[in-house]
Amino acid sequence: MSRRVVTLAHYYTQPEIQQMADKVGDSLELSLYAKECAADVIVFAGVRFMAETAKILNPQAEVILPDTNSTCSLVTQTDVAALKKWRESYPDHVHVSYINSSAEHKALSDWIVTSRNVDDVIAHLYAEGKKVIFSPDRNMGAYLNFQYGYDMPLWSAVCEVHDKFNQAALDEAFAATPGAKYLIAHPESPLPVLLHADYVGSTSGMLNWIKAYDREPEATIFVATEEGILYNMHAARPDLRIVQAPIYAGCQCNQCPYMKMNTIDAVRKAQRGEGGISIDYLDAALMDAARLPIERMLEFSRRYYA
Ligand code: 13P
Ligand code: SF4
Repeated sequence: MSRRVVTLAHYYTQPEIQQMADKVGDSLELSLYAKECAADVIVFAGVRFMAETAKILNPQAEVILPDTNSTCSLVTQTDVAALKKWRESYPDHVHVSYINSSAEHKALSDWIVTSRNVDDVIAHLYAEGKKVIFSPDRNMGAYLNFQYGYDMPLWSAVCEVHDKFNQAALDEAFAATPGAKYLIAHPESPLPVLLHADYVGSTSGMLNWIKAYDREPEATIFVATEEGILYNMHAARPDLRIVQAPIYAGCQCNQCPYMKMNTIDAVRKAQRGEGGISIDYLDAALMDAARLPIERMLEFSRRYYA
């Protein structure tokens, strides 16, 4: 009997891969889909922490990552032994971790959040009188501390793509672009950029902002995130002037090298069961420990956004 293969793709993968997928979304949407889909095999055109999360939420399915090297700098910059010590130095704090983290990291966390719900989860914890530490994304944590007056101790890792966005480069681009008016940004970007943004949110959140845009028709909208999602934005609103925010660096391409390892060939091979890496190396106890804080977030999202 043939096995049911479901392909998931993040917005940062190339358009042809998104077109091949059963579901395209942000980290939260893809996690929920992975948990609930009736798949024998999930091919995850994203990065390793996403495929691991899918496996943790749907352990019956075989989960394949098309390229074994598709990691994320927020994961590689976080030494889990050091993180454990850091977490233990705040015994009376709740540890909230961004989903861009390894399974071992998640197992050391009380809550997992995504860019979609991080502000609501942390607001909820502060409203309950809890003290919070946040890892691994320093930029996201700094933004939340500044914006809402929190005092969360922060782990210090960054997204190597979003961390390159730069307010001085944006100021120059705004000055040089007729009609330059708006900036929307992913919360992995540096604090000065986020403080100038008209909207800060997840990839899906930014896409929804573009879809609902009803302000000046001639305005230019800058987008501070990985360039892949501009495909979805242009497709949704061909009438708008949507451009990539600039960075100060040799390359202006703003591509996530790990997402781009999902070549069409690699995804097709994974769908045929011929390549990639199976996420079969997480032991059951680790998956159980990592599932708890993820499920807490999913349950919160179900109640909060219902
Ligand atoms: P989203 O959950 O907003 O899609 O973000 C994932 C990610 O890795 C952004 O760099
Ligand atoms: Fe990780 Fe940044 Fe790539 Fe997202 S864009 S997967 S945070 S390196």
